[in-house]
Amino acid sequence: MSTRIIHGTGVLSGLGDTTTELGLRNVLVITDQNITPQAFYSAATSSLSAAGVAVNVYDGCGIDAHLAEVDELAARVRRDGIDGIIAIGGGSAMCVGKAVAIVATNPPSFRDCAGVASFTNRALKMIMIPTTAGSGAEVSQFTLVKDDENETKFVGGGPLSFPDVAVLDPEVLSGIPPRLAAVSAVDALSHAVEAMFTEFATPLTDGLATTAVSLLFRSAPAAILERNEAACTENLLGSAIANMACGNARLGLAHALSLPLEAQHHLPHGYGVGVLLPHVLAFNAPIAAPKVRQLALAFGVREQERPDEDVLAGVIAAIRSFYDRIDFPQSFAGLLDEPSCLNAVARAAVPGLYGTGSTGNISDASEIASPNIRQARVSDAEDIYRACFSTH
Ligand SMILES: [Fe+2]
Repeated sequence: MSTRIIHGTGVLSGLGDTTTELGLRNVLVITDQNITPQAFYSAATSSLSAAGVAVNVYDGCGIDAHLAEVDELAARVRRDGIDGIIAIGGGSAMCVGKAVAIVATNPPSFRDCAGVASFTNRALKMIMIPTTAGSGAEVSQFTLVKDDENETKFVGGGPLSFPDVAVLDPEVLSGIPPRLAAVSAVDALSHAVEAMFTEFATPLTDGLATTAVSLLFRSAPAAILERNEAACTENLLGSAIANMACGNARLGLAHALSLPLEAQHHLPHGYGVGVLLPHVLAFNAPIAAPKVRQLALAFGVREQERPDEDVLAGVIAAIRSFYDRIDFPQSFAGLLDEPSCLNAVARAAVPGLYGTGSTGNISDASEIASPNIRQARVSDAEDIYRACFSTH
């Protein structure tokens, strides 16, 4: 990855200089209306103005990045001669920012930029400032965009869309509601765990992933519940490191199976992947025992002398106790009504997160397109969904 990471308490106050060092003079700040009243937001925009940078603002981000929103903003960027994007917010605002940066130089629509490395021009320069410790989008080449018209979500990105700078300042985490912070932390944890169970995982990405798991497992509860500054710093770094792992090793079945629930049933991303995660881990474990043991060490599970099943049980218990501590749900029950046909949800998951799977002639034997280490069919996916709706 080519993203420069600046981290530490108070580093956001240097945003103006960071921006001019990139040669930017006329930026679009992409954010949401929960962020704009915050003191750190005023400090960031003041720093830009003091450095002579013209500041244009879009504060309309909500949940998810939306295709029409992205294409409209990219047209505005081209029309107004904007030379860089600064995204301040959670995963949604950063996904909008990155998608706009991509379409600004690869017009006219993000629809044509779907998939891995499917566009030819370097994205507009961009600075990402995460205000949650979660998505890790600030260090990721990928962005996730929702097509409301077709009720789908799809990924786009490649080496030409790494953010130029990620600014990790734990001070911005202080105003986040605990529920949002918990969902964000579970998304980050899922990135690290999923990255270990793909066909692209390497010792390098496993090293990043296990480091992220240890940091998040140790620091997230104190960061969320006590807003402890040292814990917030570790949490922000943990979420970035988790995405450095999955940005290279990609994501597995939890992200692939969450997608139709997010696109068609409006389930927030973190809830989808978090509830799926232990079930997907159990699905992968029979062919990945050494990886489960490696993960157990990262969680501090001391059952290395025990049989494989006990190690897996220890890891799942660690994840479930982590969820309890931060008040994160263990099941989809209570989050959304169980769809009348889980088979249809499973079939909708076949094209996969990266859009590489088939879209026609789908049967129960069709494979879910995913670099997940164990190939899942529609029938496997249906079983996993059913387990996720169980309250036992
Ligand atoms: Fe995620």
